[in-house]
Amino acid sequence: MEQKYRGRDFITTQDWSTAELEELVELARQLKLGRRMGVGNRVLDGKTLYMIFFDNSTRTRNSFETGMTQLGGHAVFLSPDKMQISHGENAKDTANVLSRYGEAIAIRHCAFREGNQYLREVAEHATVPVLNMQCDVYHPCQILADYLTIREHKGYNRKLKLGVAWTSAPNYVRPLSVPQSLILMMPRFGIDVTLAYPEEFRLMPEIEEQARRNAEAGGAKFEISHKFEDAFDQADIVIPKSWGPLMHTQDKAEGLRLIEKHPTWRCDSNHMRLGKEDLIYMHPLPADRGREVTDEVIDGPQSVVYDEAENRLHVQKALMAMVM
Ligand code: CP
Repeated sequence: MEQKYRGRDFITTQDWSTAELEELVELARQLKLGRRMGVGNRVLDGKTLYMIFFDNSTRTRNSFETGMTQLGGHAVFLSPDKMQISHGENAKDTANVLSRYGEAIAIRHCAFREGNQYLREVAEHATVPVLNMQCDVYHPCQILADYLTIREHKGYNRKLKLGVAWTSAPNYVRPLSVPQSLILMMPRFGIDVTLAYPEEFRLMPEIEEQARRNAEAGGAKFEISHKFEDAFDQADIVIPKSWGPLMHTQDKAEGLRLIEKHPTWRCDSNHMRLGKEDLIYMHPLPADRGREVTDEVIDGPQSVVYDEAENRLHVQKALMAMVM
């Protein structure tokens, strides 16, 4: 692996060039193929990844941990409530100490206006790479997996339209990081993006603005609509996914009330018929079945959600092999 990658942080795809991201995805493809053929690749033998989870996870934790095992290294699961972070130990001390033991620090911290700031602070002081396992602003590993999944199903030779649509899912206010990372990265690869949401669910203005600039540079379209169906219209790929009205209100009760105001923003087979004939349905999971999407769609032939989840493993292995 080229030395230029060693020691690099991965907090947002914005910090990596398009060519570098393509190289990462290509390595992921090779590692996936190698794994299918039973070829081992223990490039991280004797190395340790520290994973700090401020928030729960199924896919991220297990794909990072399994990825480290497959590459010959070891991943340590750390929960802030069992660390001295709970007694106020600061990011500088945590970063410096973990840097003396292992070869990378991965963090999930989705608290609004806190998570990304914490990652940046750890990265400032760590002498090993800091990997973003999802914060309040970005979820870059998810979007790498999404990109690999799109290329596997759609190839490289067609102009593609991706629809990213807000969906109405109750119980908790989800972060903005998935749609924000999607609109930032996909247009850089020439993929047209239509983002649809009710007015109260706008994303961070600086991210929407950056997505416009990325689209211009990538020769792609980036459009915002307030009609659910627009994300599906003649689309090749749709990712209907819930997030909170965090740019409108940070009051949890008010946020949940606003989510309930739009129950028709739910993906069903009628919506899927609006897309191209070979439209695929994606979702980063966990999906709220019945509220975000019908079983018929998520369990149907157009759904590639398990390929997408599997690809988390392969892209993260590529990322770790490159930077560690
Ligand atoms: N998609 C995703 O990040 O899943 P988890 O929250 O289960 O890690």
